[in-house]
Amino acid sequence: MDHTSEHVITATEKSYFRRNIIHPHLMLNYLTKSWVFVALLGQWIFALYIFISFGIPALSGSPSSADTSRMIQGYVNGDELGNGILMMHLLPAILLSLGGIFQLLPYLRKHYPAFHRWNGRMFLTLGLLGALTGLYLTWVRGSRLSDVGSIGLTINGLLIMVAVTLAWKFAIKKQYQQHMRWAIHAFILINGVWTFRLYLMAWFMLNQGANGNTATIDGPADITLSFASYLLPMLIAEVYFWAKRQKSVYRVAIANLFMLLGLLITTLGVVAATLFMWWPRIIA
Ligand code: HEM
Repeated sequence: MDHTSEHVITATEKSYFRRNIIHPHLMLNYLTKSWVFVALLGQWIFALYIFISFGIPALSGSPSSADTSRMIQGYVNGDELGNGILMMHLLPAILLSLGGIFQLLPYLRKHYPAFHRWNGRMFLTLGLLGALTGLYLTWVRGSRLSDVGSIGLTINGLLIMVAVTLAWKFAIKKQYQQHMRWAIHAFILINGVWTFRLYLMAWFMLNQGANGNTATIDGPADITLSFASYLLPMLIAEVYFWAKRQKSVYRVAIANLFMLLGLLITTLGVVAATLFMWWPRIIA
């Protein structure tokens, strides 16, 4: 990712680190690229799961045939408005999970700026729609397993609106540094529900089952993970922006530890969510 005030690696630093270890700024780039690659895989598997579970039934003209039995309310016979809003919530998630990750690829931003702009408009608009319909489903339709367990997700939905507004505003004003910062936060927040699944499944994998979780998603582990699913990636993103501005290789090396932690958690989450949630439903 480019950053106008970022530290440029000097020739002396380069030759020093060539003889010794990988330069921390270079390592920061490798860790970021690795994270984007793992996230891309996880996002596309999630998109495939949503497409197969809800997209195909909706496209074939019978959304009621989608298997929503595992959902909180899912499809309810006779509730036209509720079912319509549920579809408006689920179907855009396919495009969001498929297209959002493209915004992070510097190559596309540089060589296909028109694609970046249109894909960005699509992502921010559908993200906003996802937050609004999600809040409706939770608090108006009553699709929630518990009040306390819904607080983390509700704050996630409200923060999506803030981040989307700021990302869009700074893009229009051509303040690209600020735009990138808020667009990254919007990406993290819009994908908060995806990250929550990653963290929950990774937690189950590490604990070999539930530990501090309840069936109504309001156990201490559930609540912690519901907030961590956006606050932790947002913190790591801020550490990344900070690291890009640092000259001290030691500071960048410390930031790299955070980046490595983020990469390991996301990788574990993608493996666990794919194995436990998405793949069995994709092949079923
Ligand atoms: C914009 C980002 C969002 C995306 C991409 C998204 C995606 C999804 C997906 C794919 C499902 C189906 C779950 C499954 O079968 O595994 C779902 C369900 C649900 N989402 Fe979201 N969601 C988003 C934001 C939100 C927000 C912010 C809220 C609440 C404040 C919310 C509330 C719900 C509820 C209540 C359901 C379950 C409906 C039911 O079971 O009847 N979502 N969401």
